[in-house]
Amino acid sequence: MKPTTTPRTYRVKSFGCQMNVYDGERMGELLATRGIVPAPEGEEADLVVLNTCHIREKAAEKVYSDIGRLTKAGRAAGKEPMIAVAGCVAQAEGEEIMARAPAVSMVVGPQAYHRLPEMLDRAVQGERATDTDMPANAKFAALPQRRSSVPAAFLTVQEGCDKFCTYCVVPYTRGAEISRPYAALVDEAKKLVDAGAREITLLGQNVSAWSGEDAKGRAVGLAGLIRDLAEVDGLSRIRYTTSHPADMDEALIAAHGEIEKLTPFLHLPVQAGSDRVLKAMNRSHTADSYLKLLDRFRTARPDIALSGDFIVGFPGETDAEFEETLKLVDAVGYAQAFSFKYSPRPGTPAATMDGQIAPEVMDERLQRLQAALNRDQHAFNKASEGRTCTVLVERKGKHPGQWLGKSPWLQSVWFEGDVAIGDLVEVRLGEAGPNSLAGKLLEPVPA
Ligand code: 5AD
Ligand code: SF4
Repeated sequence: MKPTTTPRTYRVKSFGCQMNVYDGERMGELLATRGIVPAPEGEEADLVVLNTCHIREKAAEKVYSDIGRLTKAGRAAGKEPMIAVAGCVAQAEGEEIMARAPAVSMVVGPQAYHRLPEMLDRAVQGERATDTDMPANAKFAALPQRRSSVPAAFLTVQEGCDKFCTYCVVPYTRGAEISRPYAALVDEAKKLVDAGAREITLLGQNVSAWSGEDAKGRAVGLAGLIRDLAEVDGLSRIRYTTSHPADMDEALIAAHGEIEKLTPFLHLPVQAGSDRVLKAMNRSHTADSYLKLLDRFRTARPDIALSGDFIVGFPGETDAEFEETLKLVDAVGYAQAFSFKYSPRPGTPAATMDGQIAPEVMDERLQRLQAALNRDQHAFNKASEGRTCTVLVERKGKHPGQWLGKSPWLQSVWFEGDVAIGDLVEVRLGEAGPNSLAGKLLEPVPA
């Protein structure tokens, strides 16, 4: 590659999970330390970071087509952007990307992006650089302080996964479980609040496996961390995601009944309703143990809204086994959920299992599952009509004077009134649609 000038503007395109959104923000902050600013809306950026996701589908092909599109658009505009590929595809397929896509000057894995500025220096000299080192704690220590925040911020507390569900690439792309230290998390949470956050979602691939030592040197789990973060002045809401049923301890369940700032919401993936399929997935829980666990959360916090993840068409899943997933959905009554067709991931045990399911069968199962989940989501929203709750104002709505925010149960609520982004306001929930509710502003809630 030819030497070039240091980019002036950047754009980070994050795909996939909320942790990628968090990583994307942190990469932006790193670039800002070099004086590189976000490209204005509608303008080509000098540096584009593709922050990729590898969890499903043809992730790598999508990266190559994005690179092609960027190069073509750059050529047409007379200046090709510098391209960095980050995230889980970079981790899994870094070398191939370098070999196949000469337009890419940097490949950086999710545990190495703190070295992006050095890689950029090399790229400016015309050198191509790849860094896919693991694991992660050095990264967090090397990132700059948080100086800006949206009202509903993300905070990565734990990364990686040791569960090895047989369909999943995460243990390979994000590596082994690591917990960030307690003190660093309290500090980052305070900085986020100082910068405008009112709500913080604690993120981890397996967040309930977080463990650490509190300020007094006591061993604490996620519940202990949440308890202490709830003491941070100016922070009004705490959420966490994603959890595995095997790591939900009594302290965390109890926290839902005791800590007011912990929102009444639980995202707890189950993946399937058949015990045979769950075993083949290496999930270490049964449909029944999952339902019993949810009951304990409901006892601690009766109004808790439930969310889950599902995979249809796991290798060998029969029609009858799929029906068990629908049965489980009926038994739970989810407030929202995510459902996916099984996608064989290279290098995972399930990818080479017998009994791969035909695409048409998966399509049909997904449609039926989504119809059931949508029905339940709508019913949950309908049941909220008339409820009064606080809404955190996150952005302007489509129409003038309209605002959009989230209820404690993570529903999107739109309403009109004299408010500002970041306000927590009291709203009466009105007419419910499948994906959002109309609200009526009652009065501002004192900070
Ligand atoms: N195919 C389909 N869905 C998957 N997920 C993870 N791996 C796969 C795969 N290979 C889903 C799971 C997980 C969510 C983040 O993505 O439901 O909980
Ligand atoms: Fe993947 Fe979640 Fe299973 Fe870990 S617990 S392997 S991240 S699906």
